[in-house]
Amino acid sequence: MKRWLNKIISGDCIEVLSRAKPFADLIFADPPFNIGYKYDKYNDKQEKDSYFGWTEKWMRACCDVLTKDGSFYIAMCDEHVADVKIIANKLHLFMRNWIIWHYTFGQQMKNKFARSHTHILYFVKDKDNFTFKADAIRVISDRQKVYKDKRAYRDGKMPDDVWDEYPRLCGTFEERVDDFPCQMPEGLLARIIRASSNEGDWVLDPFSGSGTTAVVAHKLNRIYTGIEISEKYVKESKNRIKDSEGLPVEGEGLPKWPDHADRELKWLYHENKVPDGKLRKDKMLLSIFTAKLNERLKKAQLYTPDDIIDRLEILRKAGKLGALREERVHSK
Ligand SMILES: C[S@@+](CC[C@H](N)C(=O)[O-])C[C@H]1O[C@@H](n2cnc3c(N)ncnc32)[C@H](O)[C@@H]1O
Repeated sequence: MKRWLNKIISGDCIEVLSRAKPFADLIFADPPFNIGYKYDKYNDKQEKDSYFGWTEKWMRACCDVLTKDGSFYIAMCDEHVADVKIIANKLHLFMRNWIIWHYTFGQQMKNKFARSHTHILYFVKDKDNFTFKADAIRVISDRQKVYKDKRAYRDGKMPDDVWDEYPRLCGTFEERVDDFPCQMPEGLLARIIRASSNEGDWVLDPFSGSGTTAVVAHKLNRIYTGIEISEKYVKESKNRIKDSEGLPVEGEGLPKWPDHADRELKWLYHENKVPDGKLRKDKMLLSIFTAKLNERLKKAQLYTPDDIIDRLEILRKAGKLGALREERVHSK
């Protein structure tokens, strides 16, 4: 198994996985949807029965390599999602959520409503024993953002099961790789990986495609294995992984300062009582301050010392930082 560590393997996932023992803590599968997409090697127009039979085979192969406490996410379109659920029942998978990924830039239709969603079914092998890291994926609640309600839970709320913050990747998007028909957004994978695995866990994508799962798993310090039937996609995704080394998850690159992060920053600043001028000069103090802030915010944005210095300066200039008690005494 060691040779599968951080690898994109070229081949048919059913065949490749038949050689393995359980190893995957998390599986994300985004198979071809049988809707006629043009892939390099795979023919995306099968007879319905044969597609159903094939789906059962690869789902079973995935279950066989999923650890006892593992999680299994499957992306699927309207046409086949009910079949996937029936197969999952047969395989004794326990469904935790039926997620709808609602995207902008849906395909326009001439005489029916435009399709703007994909189903993501979230299963675990054991309903009482699995990883779910709620604190790693909290989002700002309306209570915090809209109503500025002081009673709101400081760390935000759990995301809903309709995900509408990830647009479908159009050709003009910077994140989009060349010549691949259905790349998933990194942010969406990041939510799944953060929720259902720990650093160092092993993430498998049996339909690796452009390598999104592997790229994000690698960025988030997980082990990855991707399997892909097209040698061309294997080669291109290996390059993508290499090029993304050291970069943040797409869409999370520029640190934003949501209200609750600003509030936490100000609290910490006043608690610590170290003037920002001194923080800027003392690297040790600044790095302790940074670690404390990131720990309090728990997930979302991991700010760097520079981010913090820049933000403190912005807040000071805007008159929003307030003087430390010592500063007030001195200025009297
Ligand atoms: C929907 S795409 C996956 C896209 C991927 N989530 C991404 O973000 O790039 C499905 C991929 O499965 C690959 N594929 C089809 N049959 C396969 C098989 N039996 N084993 C491995 N890969 C397969 C196709 O070549 C295609 O790249």
